Order: sequence, then structure tokens, then C-alpha cells
Amino acid sequence: MALKATNPTTTKSWKKLQSHFDEIKSKHLKDLFNSDAQRAKDLTVKWEDFYVDFSKNRVTKETLDLLIELANELDLKDAISKHFDGDIINETEGRAVLHTALRAPKNATVLVDGENVIPEVHDVKKKIENFTNSVVSGNHKGFTGNAITDVVNIGIGGSDLGPAMVVDSLQYYKNQLTTHFVSNVDGDHYQEIIKHLNPETTLFVIVSKTFTTQETLSNANSIRSWFLESQPKEAVANHFVAVSTNIDSVKNFGIDEANIFPMKDWVGGRFSLWSAVGLSISLAVGYDNFHSLLEGAHKMDKHFKTSDFDVNIPVISALLTVWYNNFFEAESEAIIPYTQYLNQFATYLQQGIMESNGKSVDRNGNKVNYQTGTLIWGEPGTNSQHAFFQLIHQGTKLIPADFIGFVESLYGNNDHHDKLMSNYFAQTEALMNGKIEAEVMAEFKGQSLSQEAINKLTPFKVFDGNKPTTSLLIQKLTPESLGKLIAMYEHKIFVQGVIWNIYSYDQFGVELGKQLAKSILKELKEDDSSSNHDASTQSLVAFYKENC
Ligand code: F6P
Repeated sequence: MALKATNPTTTKSWKKLQSHFDEIKSKHLKDLFNSDAQRAKDLTVKWEDFYVDFSKNRVTKETLDLLIELANELDLKDAISKHFDGDIINETEGRAVLHTALRAPKNATVLVDGENVIPEVHDVKKKIENFTNSVVSGNHKGFTGNAITDVVNIGIGGSDLGPAMVVDSLQYYKNQLTTHFVSNVDGDHYQEIIKHLNPETTLFVIVSKTFTTQETLSNANSIRSWFLESQPKEAVANHFVAVSTNIDSVKNFGIDEANIFPMKDWVGGRFSLWSAVGLSISLAVGYDNFHSLLEGAHKMDKHFKTSDFDVNIPVISALLTVWYNNFFEAESEAIIPYTQYLNQFATYLQQGIMESNGKSVDRNGNKVNYQTGTLIWGEPGTNSQHAFFQLIHQGTKLIPADFIGFVESLYGNNDHHDKLMSNYFAQTEALMNGKIEAEVMAEFKGQSLSQEAINKLTPFKVFDGNKPTTSLLIQKLTPESLGKLIAMYEHKIFVQGVIWNIYSYDQFGVELGKQLAKSILKELKEDDSSSNHDASTQSLVAFYKENC
């Protein structure tokens, strides 16, 4: 077994954490600050262009020490080495997990089955670079001799969410190409995209690690049929390229080997944007920016691999999740970026975090008797303040939140940026401090309200506070800083999986629904009503068939 397989709740440090939790669970963050003048400084990690303030979390120095003790007891250091060295840590699929190798420099050595994978990684990067340059410069022509103006990424899950999120986040750095994403098997999705496109100037990038995914193959087939309505078969070579591990199936689809960008099975779908899956990113922002994204991720890899745990951003961040999830019994975590550019960031992380750590069987094959993966959700501030913040402030649930902000705005409108960031700072402060009764009462002073009315209203205006947040303040949104940020969450996922004693890199849970959908599709198409469904599904299917 590559990774240790210990039930975390049986460790000495877990027991210590439990009694420590009982001691500090009702302490208010305000009191923790009042009793320790050094708290903000001591619980902040400054690294490169990242300023990460963990001090508004419901922890003390002792909590962090105990959480680190837990990580040590569960051999986290050894697990990190095994991950980076290409050990088979994805044991249920018999694979190494090496998205980190995709951003390693040319002179690195990472062995898989005794072979150094780095030269091939860089060969694929060269292919991405050459292709990107020829499309962006207009040298790569469509079949009728026109330059490419539009790129359509056809993929789903990790073959969509990562590239789509990064292209959207880096739109400031985009070139003249317009990038589109088709993912849903809902035929209206691709129709809405192609209706504005000129087949003569559009490049389709079919992205599927397995090249068996129903959604992607259906969309690719339908789009190719649409393309062939106006273009000859020979034009496919100029307008369709693919990214996959399954070279034979891509060739059977009709794409030349020269137009295939290969990837390896040791790249998990939800960690694949650094591989050829990122081709649409490279096309959208240019290869140099794609390279900077990878460089940023590599810097975070080095930070994660070499920093002591007490100053290790992904490690602390992951341990805090364990603290809230397993001790405070918090069920979800919010991700609130204070930039509209990161509009898709929480959606992207939903797959990364929930597909990875939504598991209930441990590495020994036993049902876990503790909580694992958290629910992830979020939207950019300030919009989210006017949507769901009420519940975070005054609801009954504890929702730890990551606030992600940038010191500089990209267009440099400082008036707006100061307003944006004043909200970022204000929200974390308000969540922490809340508002006590005396403050509410004081606010009523000078207003023409009767004492009775004041007494009646006061309880509704009191905020308990003590809501934990982590503040990530990054200098500027650049390809490199985005690479660092994404890699930070990737490593956080890994650490959580190690602590929870689960396999983070398989996703068998997604399969059941897929299998059932296949057999129901057969029924829908073949007018077969012999299947043995539950009464509810039976009636729904019958209603659909009668009315469609
Ligand atoms: O959702 C399940 C899943 O297997 C993801 O892990 C993956 O990112 C997605 O489907 C798409 O898979 P593929 O790239 O093989 O089409």
C-alpha cells in the first residue's frame, strides 16, 4: 500500500484535538485577538505575492500545533514525497498522480514504471506551443484559406471546467480568438454556440481523456455533422483537433494523428488543465501566458513540498478544513473571490474537491465513521453579499469561507477597486466581530423610536459573529498567480485525502448514474417499456415518452 491507511480518529493527536476542541469551541474570535497581540502576525503566511491571513479562524497556536501533530502522525510528509515521486497513490485505479510533473522543469526527473516522463511532457508542451503560435498568428488556416477566429472546446468535467475557468479568469490577457465551451449533452447548448459560428473560421478542440464520454462524443459528432453540411470531409483536418489518452478512438473519429495532443493516464481529469487539456487556454491567452500559469503552479508545488507545515499554505488550509468539518461539524465551505474574473472558480473547485473527497470508504476498504469531503460553493463578492451572505452572518450554520482578493485591479480603476476591497475587508471583520446588543442599542440612540420598539427590534439586529474566514490577498491576478492559487487548492485536496484516509483520485460514484442513463436511453429510443424501474421512475419515463 503506497499511503498509510490509519483511521485518523484512532490517533493520539485526534484525541488531543477532541479535548482541545471542548476547551476552545465556545471561545470568541474577538477574545482570541484581545488576548494575543501577536495573533494576526503569527497566523499569517507571506509567500511570494501571497499574503494569507489565517488569524480569523477559530484556532489558537495550540490548535495548529495539534493539527500538525495529526498530519505527522499520519505521515503526511512521506505521502507528499510519494505523490511527487510517482508512486501508485491512486491505488483503486492503479495509477500514479502526477499533475505536478506537468509543470516541472525540463531538467526534472519523475519516474513512472522506471521511465522519466518529463521529456515527453515537454514534447507535448512544444507541440502545444507550435500549434498555438500558428493558430494565433494566422498561419494555421481554415480549409478555405481563412484565419481561425473562434475556438470551441468540446469536453465535460475536467475536460471543460478547468480550461473554461482559466480562460474566463484570464480574459484580460486574451488575444483576438474568441473561445467557446460546449459541455452539456443538452443539444440546445451546442446549438446556441454554433448558431453564431462560421465553420470556415472555427477550430474545434475535442477534449476527452477517455474518449468514451457520452456528452463529449455526442457533441463532437453533432458538431462534425453540422460542419460537414457546408464543408468537405478533407476540411476536418484543418478544423478538428483532439486531446486524449485514447489515440485509437480519436483516429476512428476521423482525426489525423498529427492533430492529436496526447495525455497520460496519470493525469486525473480534474487536475488536467496543465496537460494538453489546457490547449484551449494556450490558444486563448497565448503560449507564454499558459507557460506562466504552469510556472506559478510549479512554484506552489515547491512551496508545498519543501515548506515546514506551520508555514505551508495548502497544509494549513487543509488542516483547517479538517478542524471545522470533523470537530465543529461544519458541512460546507464557501469560496468568495473579490474579483469578477474568478466567477467560475467555485464551480471549478466543486469538481476538484467534491469529486476527489466525496468518499465514504477508507483506504482499508472500510466504511468511515467520521465525516469526509465538504460541500463547496461560492460566488464573487460583492454580488454574493447581496445573495447568500445573510445566511452566513445570521443563519444557524457555521460556514468557513475563503476570501480571495487582489491588491491591484487589472484596469487600474482605483475608485472601484477600493470600494470592492473595502467590502472584502468589511465582510471578514463583520463576520468575525458581529454586533453585540449594546452596539445595536447605541445605534438606535437619536432615532425617534420608542423604547418598546427598540427592545422589540434589537434581537434581530444582533450578530453573534465568530464566523471564521481565511483572507488570501494576492498582489495581482496574473497567469502565474492564478497557477499558484489553483495548485494551492489541488494540494489542499491531497492533504485532506491523506488525513481522512480515503482515495482522492478515483470517481466511481459518477459511474452508477451513467450506466443507468445508458439503459434508460435504450428504452426511450426503442419504445421498450419492459424495464423494472421503481414506480416513480417508471411513471416519469412513461410521462416523458407520452408527451415528447
Ligand atoms: O465526471 C466523471 C469524469 O470521469 C471526470 O472525472 C472527468 O473529468 C469527466 O468525467 C470527463 O472525462 P473525459 O475527459 O474522459 O471525457
